[in-house]
Amino acid sequence: MDSVFITFEGIDGAGKSSHMQALTEGFQAQGRVVTVTREPGGTPLAEQLRDLVLNAPMDGLTEALLVFAARRDHVCQVIRPALARGEVVLCDRFSDSSFAYQGGGQGLSGAVLAQLEDWVQGDKGAAEGKDDAFAVLQPDLTLWFDLTPAEAARRLAQARAPDRFEARGEDFFARVRKAYADRAQTAPQRFAQIDAGAPRDAVWQQVSDAVRSKGWLA
Ligand code: TYD
Repeated sequence: MDSVFITFEGIDGAGKSSHMQALTEGFQAQGRVVTVTREPGGTPLAEQLRDLVLNAPMDGLTEALLVFAARRDHVCQVIRPALARGEVVLCDRFSDSSFAYQGGGQGLSGAVLAQLEDWVQGDKGAAEGKDDAFAVLQPDLTLWFDLTPAEAARRLAQARAPDRFEARGEDFFARVRKAYADRAQTAPQRFAQIDAGAPRDAVWQQVSDAVRSKGWLA
């Protein structure tokens, strides 16, 4: 069976997690093997890097280098092998988060991020012997849970204690959201914009429609 790589993106508080769970069950009900993972994280090394990035103060370039180092390990150890086995991979955040948070949020140059993306996701060694050697790994579909920063802040305030990113103000999240919108424009086939401000059932409807439109769910 053909592999499927789906990523979940959006500003903090957009409510991706419960839909990831529902989508996992949908694929499993069709007999697919599903690998559910997240970034930064997904391997022991990448989870250590996650802990640093989420908690230690640092500048935007340091953040980018660490999230891409974590991504490198995750792509080599988990994502590429699962896709090579023909599995479904559902990943909570991927490189679009780096363009949104380190690029839009922190003002890091898009050219620097694009270079890191080429190195980390387009590795010859990891793809050696395959037809797609040098191909830069990108998701087959990115579900972008779009929400206004004001609504996201309202939801987060009712939830848990914020991490370093969640504690940032609405201006920061407005820039992050704008960067997602720009990124979606450059890859309209890959991105599905989900109105995450809608009621939960309506959000799920949009998610399942986006996946069905690709022919992956009955
Ligand atoms: P997330 O897993 O959504 O957080 P939580 O589990 O607490 O809901 O994301 C962790 C944070 O990491 C989030 O604020 C966005 C940030 N992040 C980046 O800044 N750059 C990246 O490349 C990634 C993957 C995440």
